[in-house]
Amino acid sequence: MGARLLCLGLLAALLGYYIYSPLPEDVAQPWTVMLTSAALRALAHLSEAAELLGLMNYMEGLRLITAVELVAPTSDENVTVTDTEFSGVPVRLFLPRRAPGGLRRAVVYFHGGGWCLGDAGMHGYDLVSRRISNEINAVVVSVNYRLAPPHHFPAQFEDVYSVTKFFLQSEVLSQYGVDPERVCVAGDSAGGNLAAAVAQQLVEDPEVKTKLRAQLLIYPALQVLDLDLPSYRDNAEKPLLPRSLMVRFWSEYFTSDPALREAMASNRHVPAEAAQLLPLVNWSRWLPAEMRRAHAYARAAPGSAELARRYPGLLDPRASPLLASEARLRRLPRAFILTCEHDVLRDDGAMYAVRLREAGVPVTHLHAKDAFHGAMTFLAWPLELALGHRLLSACVGWLRENL
Ligand SMILES: *[C@@H]1O[C@H](CO)[C@@H](O)[C@H](O)[C@H]1NC(C)=O
Ligand SMILES: *[C@@H]1O[C@H](CO)[C@@H](O)[C@H](O)[C@H]1NC(C)=O
Repeated sequence: MGARLLCLGLLAALLGYYIYSPLPEDVAQPWTVMLTSAALRALAHLSEAAELLGLMNYMEGLRLITAVELVAPTSDENVTVTDTEFSGVPVRLFLPRRAPGGLRRAVVYFHGGGWCLGDAGMHGYDLVSRRISNEINAVVVSVNYRLAPPHHFPAQFEDVYSVTKFFLQSEVLSQYGVDPERVCVAGDSAGGNLAAAVAQQLVEDPEVKTKLRAQLLIYPALQVLDLDLPSYRDNAEKPLLPRSLMVRFWSEYFTSDPALREAMASNRHVPAEAAQLLPLVNWSRWLPAEMRRAHAYARAAPGSAELARRYPGLLDPRASPLLASEARLRRLPRAFILTCEHDVLRDDGAMYAVRLREAGVPVTHLHAKDAFHGAMTFLAWPLELALGHRLLSACVGWLRENL
């Protein structure tokens, strides 16, 4: 009896230790965040173990998160929802039911998940698209691009690019009653990366006549060259995206070869020959002083030229939109950039906001001081946060004014 009680006590203590993660004090509803973060950590540990045993790739384990969150395409009184394909790529399409009263807006949305996870049909993403569609009377195309592994860069980019290009054709726009002057790309996290890259590529594509009106970038990843920015240092262990997981996502985007992951973990993955690119992601130059804080700039030690030759995506602006020249940035549409204080990707977004502004692009930069990575998709029980609704409302409000 005593022994059983002791075991139970120990188990409870262990569980408590596992679930407890120190959160920044300004994060509201800490229990929801802590439990989600513990569930993620548990799944990550199990996936690591399964990978070590040779049972599956780590990401296949993590994909359980996607699977349990999937919802069928279900229309409601405001929005007709269907799964279909554009240009051979699966998409979930949200069409407002309300009488249009003229041509509609459109948003092409790319979900997050580190280029490895996620689905337009996850409950959180379904709700984001549904709300945008209903509240600003917009056609929303949410894209299910190919994921890594097995598909590596540039497959993800190519899928979202071909869907966007397909949709921007005037026959397609008119089929859906969309105003060609009111189309926007949007995405969160890895999807924000894809949205920024698509916007850049479109301005240089002579085959595309319709120009984007806007880009909505929600805690986007925008560069892989320096994984030691102040935000990576400050938030290495914060929910829901620790630095180690972001390193894994970035490396998996290019390859499953662990050599690249190890090089990235120590921030030694950019070869000396590419040193001329570093000023484009130099946080000491591009971050506002209040975000640089007391951090000291250190130039990363040069990495292996062989890795960069094998995985040229590492230095490709389609993977790191911050590598675009000012001449290229100047032609981009207006941008909304959301960054979260407690997020390894905070400084990517903050630097892009500064670089776009210097290039003359109108930018609205919302920095949410009490937010963490991924917060915007916490929209329904059991993963519901007032913060999630507030961030999404800010995005929808900007679209209403700017699209
Ligand atoms: C439909 O739209 C109305 C008005 O925006 C809203 O109050 C209602 O909750 C929406 N219904 C659903 C199922 O989202
Ligand atoms: C980064 O910026 C700082 C300050 O603007 C500068 O002193 C340093 O030389 C730069 N380094 C690189 C590699 O661009």
